[in-house]
Amino acid sequence: MPNGLAGCCKTTALDITALLNGSKCSFTTCKFRLFAIARLALSSLATFFNSLPDTRLSMRFSAMPCHPAPFLDKMRGTMKQAQTKRIVLGITGGIAAYKAAELARLLIKQGIEVQVAMTEAATHFITPATMQALTGNPVLVNQWQDDKGMAHIQTSRVADAIVIAPATADFIAKLAHGLANDLLSSLCLARDCPLLVAPAMNKQMWANAATQRNVQRLADDGVVVLGPASGAQACGEEGMGRMLEAEELARDVFAALQNPTLTLLRQTQDRPSLSRLRERELNGVKVLITAGPTYEAIDAVRGITNRSSGKMGYAIALAAVEMGAEVLLVSGPTALAKPQGAQVVNVTSAAEMFEAVKQQVANADMFIGVAAVADYRVARPSEQKIKKSDAALTLELIPNPDILAYVASLPKPPFCVGFAAESEKLREHAAAKRKKKNIPLLAANLAQNAIGSDDNELVLFDAAGEHVLPRADKLVLARALLRHAAVLYKKGSK
Ligand code: CTP
Repeated sequence: MPNGLAGCCKTTALDITALLNGSKCSFTTCKFRLFAIARLALSSLATFFNSLPDTRLSMRFSAMPCHPAPFLDKMRGTMKQAQTKRIVLGITGGIAAYKAAELARLLIKQGIEVQVAMTEAATHFITPATMQALTGNPVLVNQWQDDKGMAHIQTSRVADAIVIAPATADFIAKLAHGLANDLLSSLCLARDCPLLVAPAMNKQMWANAATQRNVQRLADDGVVVLGPASGAQACGEEGMGRMLEAEELARDVFAALQNPTLTLLRQTQDRPSLSRLRERELNGVKVLITAGPTYEAIDAVRGITNRSSGKMGYAIALAAVEMGAEVLLVSGPTALAKPQGAQVVNVTSAAEMFEAVKQQVANADMFIGVAAVADYRVARPSEQKIKKSDAALTLELIPNPDILAYVASLPKPPFCVGFAAESEKLREHAAAKRKKKNIPLLAANLAQNAIGSDDNELVLFDAAGEHVLPRADKLVLARALLRHAAVLYKKGSK
């Protein structure tokens, strides 16, 4: 028996034994077990057959007495099915429900099977007939429509994730409080898979302390919050609360389904207290952070700076405080409020930032360079305002010190985390930057996605490879980044 087949048969046999060894089961649980066994067997077969080159597969079956082609086609189709990702797309009653149709279409295009479940309110914005036609599956609306009355359990058992898009403020509140008074909320409460929500609401509803509390609670419970974005709203106002576009959501959902950390969320839901424990993972650790842009003077009134808002660095400072760290934030000029619980040193230029870091670094256990430090400064800034003339003006720029590289090269450096802001070739540049600066962990982002925005997406690079943190609010990302950093820090990674 080839090794691949032996390996997959072994796993299947063990798992099937485990499934069959359960105590006496009711008709319903038996049915789920049999379904699980069938899925497991098919996916093991699929793993094995897919590892064979096509020619080998055809040769094996060409010896069969009957015509093999239809059988082979069927076999390949069944194996493909076993590997298909399935999501439940939950639609709640907001105007952004129209985007759910496009989202379903894009997910299906990416090979994901979509089962739609809608609240009654959602049916006023988009019809179940539209969603049924797009997905090819009957839409679940009413918890009493299933003749066995078990749709809320059954549906999530066969799903790899539930995605609520749009998620209204009301539905988020229900999720945060564990209410289950309709099919979709029951389905979410009874789930055995990760949950992703894409909030969509008016900006005041989003900013309301109650909504923010509820969203925070969802994040604490391991729910992935996608967006919202800022922009024009259906009510005519402009601000934060608009649902992400279908393309962005489809990309995020797809990335999340490929991301192994999503499986961890399933465990977090089983033990909700785990996330609380995690938030103290930096107890007593002294964390030094740089954030914001720097400003390099040209003359008394003009200077060179960049579009960094400082939001990511400030979010990291806040998340580090939450996780029990003692935080010192060296900040370039920003319009942001001081993160509660952190000590802040305000600086203007890269040289000032460098001085502040040099003074504090001996006390730091961890250094996180988030600042968008200007790489050059004006060689001879003028003390007075330079007067305009018709002649061309040439400024001589000289390089600034690289603060992160300096800290990383100290004889006893703190655990260093760098950022990479790239405008293209993210992975290539980021991996090279991590090596060049000799740091254990680097978080890379596309500058055009990150600058000024409230949300972002990161790719973390460490000695083990890369880890995608899908698009989320910067505070949510900051927590995920720090959890990752805390693990490496404790391991003493280089
Ligand atoms: N950094 C720093 N001091 C500098 C420049 C950058 O500490 N003078 C830090 C940043 O805070 C970030 C990392 O180095 O953690 C990478 O910054 P980035 O601007 O992405 O890259 P650079 O090193 O400046 O290289 P390039 O501009 O060529 O991409």
